[in-house]
Amino acid sequence: MFNFISRNKDLFYELDIFINSLKGNNDDLIRALHHAQSIFGYLPKEVQIYISEKLNVPYEKVKNIVNFYSYFTTELRGEFKINVCVGRTCSKNNSDKILAEFEKLLGINSGDTTNNFKFTLNTTRCVGTCRRAPVVTVNGKDFNGVTLEDVSLILKECNKK
Ligand code: FES
Repeated sequence: MFNFISRNKDLFYELDIFINSLKGNNDDLIRALHHAQSIFGYLPKEVQIYISEKLNVPYEKVKNIVNFYSYFTTELRGEFKINVCVGRTCSKNNSDKILAEFEKLLGINSGDTTNNFKFTLNTTRCVGTCRRAPVVTVNGKDFNGVTLEDVSLILKECNKK
């Protein structure tokens, strides 16, 4: 805990400024967690404990809120979150090959994040746009009818940003 704080003291300082600006409202905890995730990129246990102590809220409550809301993450993810749909229709339309191409070009397996934290690759169940299968989403944006050739184009587009 102490090591994590000392390695990230500037980030904790920024978090302190935000927490000190809170006015004792009911949504202080949620706001502090949102702000912490925007600073750290995720909410590791050390940050959750820190917030629980600062706001005088039981750690269990902080942990439950972090686990409840899918927006919060306890793992550092890539800047670009790529999800390949592996629902039934997308699978019939070769989403397994699309996934394999992403894995090959990124050098990671599904569920992993690149070392530079640029990309996180995952699979997802049906996203509701089966008519445009196979579907890939990047940070929530849909790419429809994705071909093997599109995979490198999608990655190039991300790398330009
Ligand atoms: S199965 Fe992929 S969008 Fe429905």
